[in-house]
Amino acid sequence: MKIVIGSDHAGFNYKSRLIELVKSMGHTILDIGTDSCQSVDYPDFGEKGARAVACGKADIGILICGTGIGMDMVANKIKGIRSAVCWNEETARFARDHNFANILCLGARFLSLEKCIEITKIFINTPVSDEKRHIRRVNKIMKVEERN
Ligand code: RB5
Repeated sequence: MKIVIGSDHAGFNYKSRLIELVKSMGHTILDIGTDSCQSVDYPDFGEKGARAVACGKADIGILICGTGIGMDMVANKIKGIRSAVCWNEETARFARDHNFANILCLGARFLSLEKCIEITKIFINTPVSDEKRHIRRVNKIMKVEERN
C-alpha cells in the first residue's frame, strides 16, 4: 500500500519512527511533513494528508498531533475521508473493520511510541469488513456527506 503520513510539531518525533515501521512492513511512504519540532498549525498538515487519500495519491493515511483530535477534525472535513482517532489496538481494529476508516489519527502526547506502533500495525493489517451490515452503515455515513 501507499501510505501518507503527516504530523504537526507535537507528532514529529513519532512520525519519524512510524515511517521506519511502515517501510519495514513493506509499504511505500508519502511524507507530507512537518519536518521539525518547530511549532506549526495542524490543520495545514491534516488537510494535505487527507487530500492525498481522497484523490488516490495514497491508499490510507496516518496523522499525528498532540491529541489526534485536531487532525481528525480536519481530515473528516474532506470528502471521501473516514478518519478515526484510535487509542489502542481494539479501536484501531474496529475503525478499519466496522467503520472502513481510511485515516488513522494518533495523539502523541497521550500515547507511548510503543502503543502507537502497535496501533499502526493493527490499522494497516486489518482489512475492511465484507459483512453487509457494516457496508450498509458506512454507505449511510457517505450519504450524510453527500447531503451536505
Ligand atoms: C498543538 O499544541 C496541539 O494543539 C495539537 O498538536 C493538537 O493536539 C491539536 O488537536
